[in-house]
Amino acid sequence: MIKAIRGMRDLLPPETARWQWVEQVAREVFALYGYREIRLPLLERTELFARSIGADTDIVSKEMYSFPDRKGESLTLRPEATASVLRAVVENGLDKGGGVKKLYTLGPMFRYERPQKGRYRQFYQINGEAFGVDAPELDAEVILLLLDILQRLQLGEMRLLINSLGCPECQVKFKAALGLFLISREGLCEDCQRRRTTNALRVLDCKSVHCKEILKDAPVIRDYLCADCAAHFARVLELLRRFGVAYEDQPRLVRGLDYYTRTAFEVVAPGLGAQDAVAGGGRYDGLSQQLGGPALPGLGFAIGQDRLLEVLPRELLGRDREYKVFLVALGEAAKEKCLNLLQKLRENNLATEMDFGNRSLKAQISQADRLGAACVIIIGEMELKDGKAQIREMATAYQQPVPFNEVPDHVKWLKDKTLAETNV
Ligand code: HAM
Repeated sequence: MIKAIRGMRDLLPPETARWQWVEQVAREVFALYGYREIRLPLLERTELFARSIGADTDIVSKEMYSFPDRKGESLTLRPEATASVLRAVVENGLDKGGGVKKLYTLGPMFRYERPQKGRYRQFYQINGEAFGVDAPELDAEVILLLLDILQRLQLGEMRLLINSLGCPECQVKFKAALGLFLISREGLCEDCQRRRTTNALRVLDCKSVHCKEILKDAPVIRDYLCADCAAHFARVLELLRRFGVAYEDQPRLVRGLDYYTRTAFEVVAPGLGAQDAVAGGGRYDGLSQQLGGPALPGLGFAIGQDRLLEVLPRELLGRDREYKVFLVALGEAAKEKCLNLLQKLRENNLATEMDFGNRSLKAQISQADRLGAACVIIIGEMELKDGKAQIREMATAYQQPVPFNEVPDHVKWLKDKTLAETNV
């Protein structure tokens, strides 16, 4: 058989129930903060990412799925969503009218990285982006929103790392100082030797242990922040403290994408090994203009859904919330009766299944068990004669006959009783 592509996974049931739950919680929390959903194409012009994420980043230089279409135009499977959200906002005039605009989007991203635990070539992000306001209150709110989602999902231990990357003016001064520092350093990796002249900031994001060692004494951007950027950052931190957020101020934190200005942050979780960032984000006030759009400040975050699901407590999410009913038909005549009942129960909003394979009672009961059915309805020749179905509660094996026309009401009653007992 043909196999799936390396780094691209199938997400299978029952795991998909956990994914749905995560998405549902995220949607609910986004709504609380005034975010609405935007759905975007997976393919964009390559230029959109090259000009936003930055030509010197690992993502653009090594990891994009880019190819020419039939007319020779270079297209790319999106490696992230922020540039696309911004493009869509400007293209559709969503930025008009002033005030803050808040959007969220969920879906797959593509990066040609070396696959390992927590790192895939197709992975999923939950993105929140807010536009139109450069006030530090919005930065604090975006971070509170991110943490709110993660807490409601019961992510246990996590650390919020935060830094300010300054405005373009701070960055110019800092890059000059960093360039000067790097010029005299020996032993940088090949990429960093190139980057120290093309884009010195990228050297700070190098994963090589040796480069990291050299960078220990490098200047930090904090010392180059202008008064406005320093005040902005101080206000963000003050608000985080006011709302009881534990953060770690990390003057050396940089992100893998070039578009960030001022606030940048990451959430890391233990238990993920080397790929420990569950979420990342920050401000990108210059990005719209960089892409040829109007001045439009913005910031946001992306949660890595694959990684998040790896660290969320399993027992919480393993619970299948659906109350399921399984119909067991014994013989052809019973099957006809069951077919009618099957639809009747569904009309009553009861999740119901049956097997059309004419298998034995034992085989059908064990299938019901495998599917997690809470209630099994058995109909054979005897039941047809009596006009009553046998209704069995799987948890207790308690079984009782119920007239056919009363089955839907009886099952509804059983469902309410069960759900009340288990407190779901
Ligand atoms: P990012 O840090 O590149 O930021 O990705 C965000 C999150 O996506 C990471 O923290 C990680 O959890 C997850 N992630 C990234 N690559 C992979 C991968 N290969 N496999 C599995 N998970 C992965 C961005 O993408 C920005 N667009 C975030 C943002 C939104 N900034 C402002 N707004």
